[in-house]
Amino acid sequence: MTNPVTTHQNGTIPAQPGPREAAESMDGVIPGAGPSGKPGSRPTVKLREAGPEDPPRYAPEWLQLREPADAAARAHDLLDPLRIRLANLPGKPGGVVIHDLGCGTGSMGRWLAPCLDGAQHWILHDRDPYLLHFAAVASPRSAADGSRVTVETRRGDIARLTPDALQGASLVTASALLDVLTREEIGTLAAACAGAGCPALLTLSVAGRVELTPSHPLDAEIGQAFNEHQRRDGLLGPDAVTAAAEAFSENGATVRLHPSPWRLGPDQAALTEQWLRGWVGAAVEQRPELRAEADAYLAERLAACAAGELRVTVHHTDLLALCRPAGGAS
Ligand SMILES: C[S@@+](CC[C@H](N)C(=O)[O-])C[C@H]1O[C@@H](n2cnc3c(N)ncnc32)[C@H](O)[C@@H]1O
Repeated sequence: MTNPVTTHQNGTIPAQPGPREAAESMDGVIPGAGPSGKPGSRPTVKLREAGPEDPPRYAPEWLQLREPADAAARAHDLLDPLRIRLANLPGKPGGVVIHDLGCGTGSMGRWLAPCLDGAQHWILHDRDPYLLHFAAVASPRSAADGSRVTVETRRGDIARLTPDALQGASLVTASALLDVLTREEIGTLAAACAGAGCPALLTLSVAGRVELTPSHPLDAEIGQAFNEHQRRDGLLGPDAVTAAAEAFSENGATVRLHPSPWRLGPDQAALTEQWLRGWVGAAVEQRPELRAEADAYLAERLAACAAGELRVTVHHTDLLALCRPAGGAS
């Protein structure tokens, strides 16, 4: 994909463009919204400075663009059981401690912090320091009841998460993360949460199902190739939620799942456009023989999107795992 984002070596953060400027600023394609450039790499475009072995990095513009659709999709039904669990925790002077894994620019905290009562301290984890800057700058400030929300950032690889790293945690969250992990990494995550005795709210994992209206004969084949692309190199892609539910259950947690689909219509055209480019691009990367047909398909779909005539449902699943509290009964 073209025009990778450049990092800012001097540590400064550029002004955050709004989603619309972001969508228009890069030749219509946001790196990080689509597939990797090379077979064998993880599912986003690498930044220009990144070496071949470096993990992929996500463009903040893509994360910003999806944030409103994510917020609209999130499963509110999982919040009540979570609130009950948090209310039953022994009180802590600074309030609850929430670790957000793979925080990106911090959209999970901006959504969840104002849904929960009481003081909160958020520890935002990501391996990308550039995204951590964005997350720190735009962190939530107050809880539902006006209590204080504080934030710190931690750079690191969540594949190496230990129960120690989560010691004292009241809650672990993640959003749009599980599907880019391996089974082993999800096992590590579940074991770390169970070891720390804290619940986990793991949201917006792709479910591997997409519906486009009006339909097109190539929809199913593109969808299948995209799912295969997501599963390459041992990543779980659409199998992530099932794997996570199993891993948490094996660690003694009670697991609840809830759908959290994106429902994209004319008001979300900029996001739909980027999503379409990434979805079709990944399918072609996976099955190069589809290229000619897929190019025509994409052009047709983009034209319908621009005309306000396309609706897309991208199915996701949210998962709440209530682990047994450490040292106590469930
Ligand atoms: C799809 S983005 C989601 C970001 C954010 N949670 C959101 O919903 O907007 C995935 C994020 O996970 C981070 N990430 C992926 N694998 C990671 C790992 N092994 N360790 C730390 N961060 C990781 C990426 O850097 C990226 O910020």
